[in-house]
Amino acid sequence: MKPRVVVGSPLVGDALERVRAIADVTLSQRATGFSRGELLAEVATADALIALPSQRVDVTLLDAAERLRIVANHAVGVDNVDLEACRARSIVVTNTPGVLTEATADLAFGLLLDAARRISEGDRLVRAGAWEGWAPTFLLGTRVHRATLGIVGFGRIGQAVARRALGFSMKVLHCGSRGQMDGTRAASLDELLATSDFVSLHAPLRPETRGLLSRERLRSMKRGAVLINTARGPLVDEVALAELLHEGHLAGAGLDVYDGEPQVHPALLAAPRIVLAPHLGSGDVEARTAMARLACDAVVAFFDGTDVPNRVV
Ligand code: GLV
Repeated sequence: MKPRVVVGSPLVGDALERVRAIADVTLSQRATGFSRGELLAEVATADALIALPSQRVDVTLLDAAERLRIVANHAVGVDNVDLEACRARSIVVTNTPGVLTEATADLAFGLLLDAARRISEGDRLVRAGAWEGWAPTFLLGTRVHRATLGIVGFGRIGQAVARRALGFSMKVLHCGSRGQMDGTRAASLDELLATSDFVSLHAPLRPETRGLLSRERLRSMKRGAVLINTARGPLVDEVALAELLHEGHLAGAGLDVYDGEPQVHPALLAAPRIVLAPHLGSGDVEARTAMARLACDAVVAFFDGTDVPNRVV
């Protein structure tokens, strides 16, 4: 009998055809994927699951999925998957590293430029008919060129952001990984927060990084600094961030990820000088095509009995 593969949502490109050749595929037709209830019902007879980062693969789901043998997470972050519970059940888990590095770094840098130079804010003014004309004091922003960028988490994506920053003659500090790059310098998190004009987060969400930018740490950031988060929402105390923007302690923020997304905390929605993107980090055609390919490669390899690429568990 062919294995049954449940796919959280439609995927970009044609990689799924290779899975269809070896398996019965059940696919959500909704772009945002199966709801929690639908997914719990679908996994009951699934041998494999291609999951979105928005779909929690927790003990409740695993208990409902007696036949499940592999979870191919369509994301590099695996914080939506209970890895220990999968390990205990001998369920293989894979992710999609490498292929979304440049897309995510582009988005981080886009948010940095937008938050610094108030592009989205200006766009809203123009559309509202509230633009009264050029004025020396109008929508003044923060200089990016030669400013200091602190990168928290210097893995693939953090390093890709650093390469972009060096092109803007920025001074780059980094912490949180062992990576090295000419023209950049490792620093403690305390030093990085106290001295950076821009701070960009690129750390995975793990128990030890949840709340990493606590109220105290946000307050320890240099006055007038800008925070960028394209990693995971729960790294940051969102309410404290909103307060520091209101106070003017921080000059801006650019977020792509949220605690509890797609809900966005009302405090963030009401905060000044904040750019809110809807989790678009990996959202260019090349990255999403390659992510689908890696997730499908893992499933096909698993049922072929060959080495499963990009195993996390
Ligand atoms: C997306 O957020 C990812 O982790 O790939």
